[in-house]
Amino acid sequence: MTAMPDEAPERIVAGEPQDGDLQADTSLRPKRLAEYINQEKVKDNISISIEAARQRSEPLDHVLLYGPPGLGKTTLAYIIAAEMQVSIRVTSGPAIERIGDLAAILTSLQTGDMLFIDEIHRLSRIVEEFLYPALEDGAIDWVTGKGPGARSIRLAIKPFTLIGATTRYAMMSPPLRDRFGHVYRLDFHNVDALAQVIRRSAKIIGVEIDDAGTLAIAQRARGTPRVANRLLRRVRDYAQVKADGVITEAIAAEALARLEIDRLGLDNVDARVLRAIIEKFDGGPVGLDTIAASISEDADTIMDVYEPYLMQLGFLQRTPRGRTATRLAYEHLGLEPKPATPSPQKSLFD
Ligand SMILES: Nc1ncnc2c1ncn2[C@@H]1O[C@H](COP(=O)(O)OP(=O)(O)OP(=O)(O)O)[C@@H](O)[C@H]1O
Ligand SMILES: [Mg+2]
Repeated sequence: MTAMPDEAPERIVAGEPQDGDLQADTSLRPKRLAEYINQEKVKDNISISIEAARQRSEPLDHVLLYGPPGLGKTTLAYIIAAEMQVSIRVTSGPAIERIGDLAAILTSLQTGDMLFIDEIHRLSRIVEEFLYPALEDGAIDWVTGKGPGARSIRLAIKPFTLIGATTRYAMMSPPLRDRFGHVYRLDFHNVDALAQVIRRSAKIIGVEIDDAGTLAIAQRARGTPRVANRLLRRVRDYAQVKADGVITEAIAAEALARLEIDRLGLDNVDARVLRAIIEKFDGGPVGLDTIAASISEDADTIMDVYEPYLMQLGFLQRTPRGRTATRLAYEHLGLEPKPATPSPQKSLFD
């Protein structure tokens, strides 16, 4: 996940965790595969691999999970460990600064343990290369001494499973990617799945919500369970203060409109990205850096945080020559498309 610029205000519809999510992420996080909503293909494959590994009494092959923020990578990592009935050790790419840090972790793992490395694309090259023999040969090469006197000793480590998570698959080095036996991409959830997430969470936090209210929040949750849970909490506050505590469609729509979230979950930053392409660059194609400069946003943030959902909606296309706004984007903003505006290939809401 890319760090947001320090001065950037928190966006209520951002997929990344924010203040207040941490506790909610933990309490609302499904603990077992059966509670994990949607991502059926991934769940099927994982449960088969888990069962096979357990029958052979072997550790699971290394697992890589990738996809936009808030879609359930960390949740799934914990679930895999729970289903395998093994312990899980949690760290992240930026937290492992030196080889020694990683060596300490690897040598402390017990047979079958899982090691979860979040943001694995941010491991330094040196640390990454140190990890390779651990993944392949069950050993690490520890160098003692310096200069011509340096010697490398091979130390055996116990068989373990690495679970890597990343929002940036493209930034991972190919050799690291190749060392994972299982690679799963998590997709945005459709509105039905988000409605299930919201219903489940509402029960856990103890708020009454009707079907139309559930749908109203699901439609604005950008395909992302973390956003769904966050919106639910905000709407609950509103329902408690402004109404009788029950979340209906009207209450949800009112609460989210006050937060300046439109009916598809877009906020004013999304609108600025689209408007920049349409109004300043005639609908595109225009390069990412040019868009970023024209609205004073960070290019990486636009690429990681805003674009995936705009593309999922079919509002934006990435072409070799740059970004293009589609007909749907014009229509959503109430603008007249220019004659040659492309129609999107697919949309979440078709
Ligand atoms: N499939 C799911 N079913 C139910 N709830 C889910 C599901 N996936 C995610 N959630 C909810 O969304 C929250 C965020 O998920 P999680 O922390 O696993 O996302 P992530 O992909 O690891 O995000 P990041 O990239 O920011 O690390 C969880 O606390 C959980 O409540
Ligand atoms: Mg995570």
